[in-house]
Amino acid sequence: MRRRELLALTAKAGAGAGLQVGLPRWIPGRAKPTKAVEPAYTGADSLRAHATARGLLAGCAVDVAGLKTDEDYAGLVKDQANIIVGESAMKWDRLRPTIDSYEFGEADELIAFAEANKMRVRGHTLCWHRQLPKWFAAEANEKNARELLAEHIKHVAGRYAGRMHSWDVVNEAVSVEDGRPDGLRDSPWLRLVGEGYIEAAFHAARAADAQALLTLNEFGIEGEDRASEKKRAAVLALLRRMKARDVPVDAVGVQSHLNGVGQVFGAGLQGFREQMRELGLQVLITEMDVNDRELAGDEGMRDKVVAEVYRRYLDAMLKDANVTAVVTWGITDRRTWLNGENQRADELRERCLPFDAESRPVGAFFAMRDSVDKRTKTEGYSRGLPTARLRWRERFAR
Ligand code: XIL
Repeated sequence: MRRRELLALTAKAGAGAGLQVGLPRWIPGRAKPTKAVEPAYTGADSLRAHATARGLLAGCAVDVAGLKTDEDYAGLVKDQANIIVGESAMKWDRLRPTIDSYEFGEADELIAFAEANKMRVRGHTLCWHRQLPKWFAAEANEKNARELLAEHIKHVAGRYAGRMHSWDVVNEAVSVEDGRPDGLRDSPWLRLVGEGYIEAAFHAARAADAQALLTLNEFGIEGEDRASEKKRAAVLALLRRMKARDVPVDAVGVQSHLNGVGQVFGAGLQGFREQMRELGLQVLITEMDVNDRELAGDEGMRDKVVAEVYRRYLDAMLKDANVTAVVTWGITDRRTWLNGENQRADELRERCLPFDAESRPVGAFFAMRDSVDKRTKTEGYSRGLPTARLRWRERFAR
């Protein structure tokens, strides 16, 4: 019996007996489960091994400081990921202490960790409206913003050229609610540079790094609700305009911050993937997690519902060979942004990731691995990529 099933049973028994739900690990009076009943999830049984065997990239966002101080966390990432991305290490507020200087400490450490462990790295992000440095509001203006952006991309993407799997060149460029006919977000970059900032960013990125997959990364485009539908249409229109103008875009990042309730994945999402394929763009799942804030507190139940969302979403997405990577936004509930933003009203810890706060795999992990297992070998990231972008396989395959 899987630990989760056992836990669910335990929770039920506990609830019936008026005990605190979710705490006992075994039903008192019954034999304690031995290690042998726990499904294996490390090494050859890890998500990493299963994904690698099927030519798929699978991994997580990491907190670089945590990798240095928390051995258990670093070990989990090494074991489970063949691709990582800095949760913040490559954002403007980390890289740019002042308008005319760079600080690459954490970003360099991120790349070093990935390379030492034969992982690929995503870069996140060269242009975003959030996590801009404090000086930005006072010092960036209509005169210097275009140059500031181009210089930043030249330095940052140039520094790691040839070593990155992909770059989120522009993050969250679309916001239908902002009311512009072109669907673009009313961001500082748009206000200072004009709508040409997106293509300027992609051209600068291509000039700096000929190999990384240049990605437009976006959230809120996964569901079948009206808002997702509208946003997908705006993202598609933007990508078509970019393609028509020969802007070097290679992939779309679907962030995949999903919700525990009310999420349906269907024809709209499938249609979007088909449109991406027609445009010659890969699809990357870049920031997956499932927010459980609208679910009641019972841990076993939350895990079950969250796992089902993982399963339904990844079954739908990963059956498409053009979806070439699945990255979760964190790996253990011990470290998730959802405990600080969009957190639960009852302040219980979120259970949104494949491993719980004690680094034990939960239903979401097994759901992910099962979906990955449905991929057949030779499908996946290698399709259609220029040989230069395949070189890493020789260097990094394990
Ligand atoms: C989040 C980080 O996880 C937080 O630590 C930080 O405080 C705010 O940003 N979409 C993105 C990510 O593209 O960069 C965000 O990351 C989560 C939403």
